[in-house]
Amino acid sequence: MNSARSKLLVSMSKIKKSFGKVEVLKGVDFDIRSNEIVGLIGDNGAGKSTLIKILTGVHRPDGGEIYYKGERITIHSVDRSRELGIETVYQERALSEQQTLWRNIFMGRELTGRLGFIRIKKQREETDRILRDQMGFTSEAISTDSIVQFLSGGEKQGVAIGRALFFNAELIILDEPTMGLSIAETKKALDFVRNIKEQGKSAIFISHNIYYVYPVADRFVILDRGNVAGEFNKKDISQDELVERMVLLAKTGSMK
Ligand SMILES: Nc1ncnc2c1ncn2[C@@H]1O[C@H](COP(=O)(O)OP(=O)(O)OP(=O)(O)O)[C@@H](O)[C@H]1O
Ligand SMILES: [Mg+2]
Repeated sequence: MNSARSKLLVSMSKIKKSFGKVEVLKGVDFDIRSNEIVGLIGDNGAGKSTLIKILTGVHRPDGGEIYYKGERITIHSVDRSRELGIETVYQERALSEQQTLWRNIFMGRELTGRLGFIRIKKQREETDRILRDQMGFTSEAISTDSIVQFLSGGEKQGVAIGRALFFNAELIILDEPTMGLSIAETKKALDFVRNIKEQGKSAIFISHNIYYVYPVADRFVILDRGNVAGEFNKKDISQDELVERMVLLAKTGSMK
């Protein structure tokens, strides 16, 4: 393992969160290294989305600490999280369906010239570069002027990931990126997740489906009713073994 890969990007320590009387995170430790894809797996209600919403400034934790590149930080808002280089890609809400791809890429973060004019030609050129070079889109049917609603679900994920990378995201969070996608679309979405790794960045990939997470993730963290039930490096566990452990967890409440 090289040093860049083993470097900690984010470290969440003893994170607690309650909604009313219900404690949904009971002191969770969760790390992400530079250039690492972490699969965050667990049943409905395990606390996966809540944990990442603490990282993206949607929720404030009731306890615990967050470190970013070794420095203790508090994340008060979604904007703050973005400033740090943490972006969430949501399947549905990510893009504006009626707009072209190039408008989507730069929506809210337009490239402007010295006098404040929006540089439309530059935005279209950059969009083309993001699609072809950065994300490796090959479909002839897609261009900078394509309207988002005609893209496949997997392609939409790709555009959202490309946009995040263009704006220098260090960590991209994907919460159930394959939900509702066909098998072909899922394959595309998974390729785009691999692309995050190839670009030297990190990702948290949340899913129920080990068969989707296993091939793309370097490490797996299993959350169960607000606790980390297990953590495995891919090199130490086969896909079948991970599935067996998950079945064991469901049956006995423990992975061991
Ligand atoms: N804003 C909220 N207010 C009250 N309860 C909440 C809130 N958000 C989440 N919860 C509860 O916290 C628990 C954990 O929810 P969370 O969304 O983190 O689970 P999850 O692991 O992402 O599940 P899923 O796989 O179904 O997406 C659930 O019982 C949920 O009902
Ligand atoms: Mg969730």
